[in-house]
Amino acid sequence: MTEISKAKRDGFSSKFGVIAAAAGSAIGLGNIWKFPYIAGENGGGAFLIIYLVFIVLIGLPVMMSEFIIGRKAQQNVFGAFRSLSKTGFWRIIGVMGVLAAFFILSFYGTVAGWTIEYIYLAISDSFAGKDATEITTMFSDFSTSTFKPLALQLIFMGITAFIVLRGIKKGIEKYTKILMPLLLLIIIYLDITALSLDGGMDGLKFLFQPDFSKITPKCIIDALGHSFFTLSLGMGVLVTYASYFKSDINLTKTSINVAAADTIIALLAGIAIFPVVFAFNTEPGVGPGLVFVSLPNIFELIPGGYIFSIFFFLLLALAALTSSISILEVVVAYLSEETKMSRKKATLLSALAISITGALATLSMGVLSDFKIFDKNIFDIFDYLASNVLLPLGGMLISLFVGWVLKRSIIEDELSNYGTNKIVSIKIFIFLVRYLAPISILIVFLHGVGIIKL
Ligand code: PHE
Repeated sequence: MTEISKAKRDGFSSKFGVIAAAAGSAIGLGNIWKFPYIAGENGGGAFLIIYLVFIVLIGLPVMMSEFIIGRKAQQNVFGAFRSLSKTGFWRIIGVMGVLAAFFILSFYGTVAGWTIEYIYLAISDSFAGKDATEITTMFSDFSTSTFKPLALQLIFMGITAFIVLRGIKKGIEKYTKILMPLLLLIIIYLDITALSLDGGMDGLKFLFQPDFSKITPKCIIDALGHSFFTLSLGMGVLVTYASYFKSDINLTKTSINVAAADTIIALLAGIAIFPVVFAFNTEPGVGPGLVFVSLPNIFELIPGGYIFSIFFFLLLALAALTSSISILEVVVAYLSEETKMSRKKATLLSALAISITGALATLSMGVLSDFKIFDKNIFDIFDYLASNVLLPLGGMLISLFVGWVLKRSIIEDELSNYGTNKIVSIKIFIFLVRYLAPISILIVFLHGVGIIKL
C-alpha cells in the first residue's frame, strides 16, 4: 500500500474510542452467553482457574502481538502479513481468520437472533407468572422452531452489515462508546439480586470453588478455545482494529485494559447466572440456552424487573452487535483491500454468504438437529472448529510470527511508541511469544483432540 492510500484510511478518533471498540469486540455473547454455559458444562471452578491462567499467559501476549502487527502494517490481515514477511506462508493466518469469521458469525448470528426475541418477550412481559419449567419450555419451543429464529438472525446480520458499511469512525466507534458501561451497570444490579436469593450462594461456590477432579482434556481445550474466543483473538480482528490505531496508543496498556474488562464482565455474568440456576434448582450444564432459561426467573422478583429485563436483553443484543461488526470487518477489509471489490459490495456479499451458513447453525437447533458429526450438531461444529481449532492455531502462528520472524526493533518501536513510553520487560514478552504461548497452545490442542495423552 502506498503512503497516500495509507493516509486516507479511516481511523479511530480518540483513545477512549480505541479501547471501547477493542473492548466492544471482546465483550459480547462470549462473556454473557458462552462463558457461563461452558463453565457450567465443565464443572465451574476448575474450568475458571484454567481459563484465567490462559487469559494471562497466552491471551495477553497474543493480543499484544496482534496489536503490534496491525499497527505496524496498517492493513487488513492478509496485507499485513504480506508486507511484514517475505514468505507467503504467514498469509495462512489470514485464510484461517476469514474461515473462522464465517464459522463464528454463523452461530453468533443465531444466538444474537435469540436475544432479539428476548427483547420482545421482555417488552411483552412474557416472563411474568411463569415458573422455571415454563421458562425453559418457552426457550426450547422458540429455539427449535424454524421461521422466527431464521428471520431474527437475518435481521441481526442486516444491522451488522449496515454498521460495517458506515465505516469505522461513524459506525463502530460511535456505537460502542456508550453501550458497554451501561451493560456493566445492569449486570451489577443483577448480581446483587442473584446473590440475595435463597440458595444463591451454592451458585457462587459452583463458580469459584475448584473441583480438580472435573478437569478433563475437554475442559482444558474448552478453556483455551474460550480464552481466544472471548478476547477476539487468533483471527485477525485485533490486527485489523490495530491497523486503525494512531501512534500514541499504548499497546500494552490497551491489551491489559481490554483483557481485564472482558474478564470482569464474564465473571459478573457468572455471578448473576449461577446463583439463579441453583436457587431455582435448574441445571448448570444445560448448554447454549443457559442465560435464556436462568435470568428470566429473577426479573419478576426484583424492583423494576420489567424495565431491567428489557434493558438487559437490549444491551446483550448490542454487545453482540459490537462483536459481530468486528468479525464481519475482517472479511470486508480483506475483500475490499485485497480485491478490487468496493466496500459496499464486499459487505453485502459477505453478510449474505454468512447468513446462508448461519441458517444452517440456526436450523440445527430444530429441523436439522439429527444431523450430527461426532455427536455435535452444526451449531456446535461451527463453534468447535472456530473456537477450539482455528483460533488457537491462528494465535499460535501469530505469536510465532512475532517471536521469531518480526524484527526485534519493530516490536520495541511498537511497544514503546517509538521510544515515548517504557516497555515493562521486552524479555518476558519475547519469552512468552517465542516459547510459552505457542508450546502451550500446541500441547493443549494435541491433548484436547486426543493425539497425545498426558
Ligand atoms: N469476543 C467476542 C465475544 O466474546 C466474540 C468474537 C470472537 C469476536 C472472535 C471477534 C472474534 O462475544
